[in-house]
Amino acid sequence: MEYVEIFDTTLRDGEQVPGCKLDSKTKLIIAEQLDELGVDVLEAGFPISSPGDFKAVENISKLMKNARVCGLTRAVMKDIDVAAQALKTAKRARIHTGIGTSDNHIKYKFNATREQILERAVAAVKHAKSYVEDIEFYAEDAGRTDNVFLAQVCEAVIKAGATVLNIPDTTGYCLPEEYGAKMKYLKENVKGIDNARLSCHCHNDLGLATANSIAGVQYGARQIECTINGIGERAGNTSLEEVVMILRQHPYLNLDTRIKSQMLYGISQLVSESMAMPIQPNKAIVGANAFAHSSGIHQDGVIKKRDTYEIIDPKEVGVTQSSIVLTARSGRAALAYRAKNIGYELDKLQLDKVYQQFLIEADQKKEINDDDIPNIIKASKI
Ligand code: KIV
Ligand code: ZN
Repeated sequence: MEYVEIFDTTLRDGEQVPGCKLDSKTKLIIAEQLDELGVDVLEAGFPISSPGDFKAVENISKLMKNARVCGLTRAVMKDIDVAAQALKTAKRARIHTGIGTSDNHIKYKFNATREQILERAVAAVKHAKSYVEDIEFYAEDAGRTDNVFLAQVCEAVIKAGATVLNIPDTTGYCLPEEYGAKMKYLKENVKGIDNARLSCHCHNDLGLATANSIAGVQYGARQIECTINGIGERAGNTSLEEVVMILRQHPYLNLDTRIKSQMLYGISQLVSESMAMPIQPNKAIVGANAFAHSSGIHQDGVIKKRDTYEIIDPKEVGVTQSSIVLTARSGRAALAYRAKNIGYELDKLQLDKVYQQFLIEADQKKEINDDDIPNIIKASKI
């Protein structure tokens, strides 16, 4: 089994979301939980962006017991100096520096040439290396960067001292096949690639962030950059809980993470509440309906054996149990199960009668809850 490192960027790419700004105390609470969860790298912020972010990176650096602490910079010397300063007290620090490499970014953002970008990338990595050993280089918009030029940049920054190569699909453009093929191309065409770790950083503009990250690790990447609940710029980043559970549910891939999955639900709630960012009910792994069953056919199966309709034991992700939701689509098995849970054992004849009454009530309400059941039983006159 090989380990894929989890690089959490909830407090950097995640916190960039409008309205998701956190105060410094809450950042520390979340950082501590992420460390406990088992993330390998925690991107704590973008130190030059504001005094508050500088302070957050500084405070998180002091606090982390296991995770490496990372600070983001542009390929700008002053950014790197400030990040190094903020990371000074970290037991294990990483500087994350980089520059746009797609022709689109080179022409319209930088009004530069490929040669100039290459030079700036190398200079930034060399400068960062004068402060810390662990340097991650990001080739922004790598998803739309020509693979030949991308390989050239990767080779040059490895030579300059980069230990991790981040290949961001910044605009969420790639298809999984294409993103996987990009990793494979880099593995096969970059001299010195075995001295560095390839990293997936995927955005979710087309709903493919998770699929692209998994394709990336299937073709040789060994780090995934992700956020709790998939929060992040625009449609968000790769969701941490999804990639962790995908790898765990597919052991034949021979890839796993060090994440304590039982903490996932709790930390998802913490991030959602702290950022006032509700989780969609049908969100994989941590949504309110992720382990809820409401149609009669599914409920009957789950009551007989949970894994007929569930591929994950909810306890594995910190959810106490699957729920059997009573609606007008529910069957007798679900009604009998829920009634029994609150102390009513119904025989077959009784259940038939109560079920008729239940359907009348359920057609009028979205959901029947435990408090309604005694009234339904009473009204059915059994
Ligand atoms: O999406 C992106 O390209 C980024 C980089 C700054 C790593 O977030
Ligand atoms: Zn990003």
